[in-house]
Amino acid sequence: MKQHKWFVLLTLFISAIALVHLISLFSYRLSGNGYTQGNFAVAITSPVQFPVNYQQKFMHYATVDCPNSRIVRQMYVNHDSLDVVATSEVVPSNTVIVMETYSANQSDQGNLTPTQLNNIFIREKRNGWNIDPHSGEWQSAWYSPSGSLVSDNQGSCIGCHTRVRERDYVFTLPALIAAAKTRQLQYQQTEFGSSVCQ
Ligand code: HEC
Repeated sequence: MKQHKWFVLLTLFISAIALVHLISLFSYRLSGNGYTQGNFAVAITSPVQFPVNYQQKFMHYATVDCPNSRIVRQMYVNHDSLDVVATSEVVPSNTVIVMETYSANQSDQGNLTPTQLNNIFIREKRNGWNIDPHSGEWQSAWYSPSGSLVSDNQGSCIGCHTRVRERDYVFTLPALIAAAKTRQLQYQQTEFGSSVCQ
């Protein structure tokens, strides 16, 4: 009798383990946009939304070449923000900056021509978004060229952008101000060396 009881308990135990594995397998398959932690899928979301049609709706304010790593970066900003920057040289709340990174071909003269869009990085500033003492009021998101969220991790972005806290965490602030005042696209090579041009 006692042996029978143990057998039932063992069977129940093994079935429970099998069930947990089955469930985690299914949730993994269902998670199109998630990443996995161990066996379990976690869907990622971001308060920084992908600005649909930004190439038409925003101003393309800067092209930054990184000749050493053959990468071209294209920066866009929303027009409401541009108007404020033009008069005050201050980046206002509700600013959205999009940066596309392209791999590029290099001519014999060293000029870069973008070939393939690889990533879309977005930074957005909003009053009250003091999520980190090293990030001002900015939050970040990394999207794929098709507009799906790749990462909402703030730490990696903050790690670099905090180096330009005196520019309100915007590396290309001088170009942004110049573009806001002249409404001309600014061309430049990176000021920040190849180690940050990934
Ligand atoms: C290794 C350092 C580094 C990291 C990490 C980094 N950035 Fe940047 N980012 C830069 C530099 C440098 C520029 C300016 C481009 C240039 O001059 O090469 C820049 C520019 C930008 C811009 C254009 C506005 C500006 O500040 O000039 C956006 C938007 C941006 N990054 C988003 C992000 C996001 C989102 C992340 C995290 C997923 C991130 N960055 C991580 C170095 C970094």
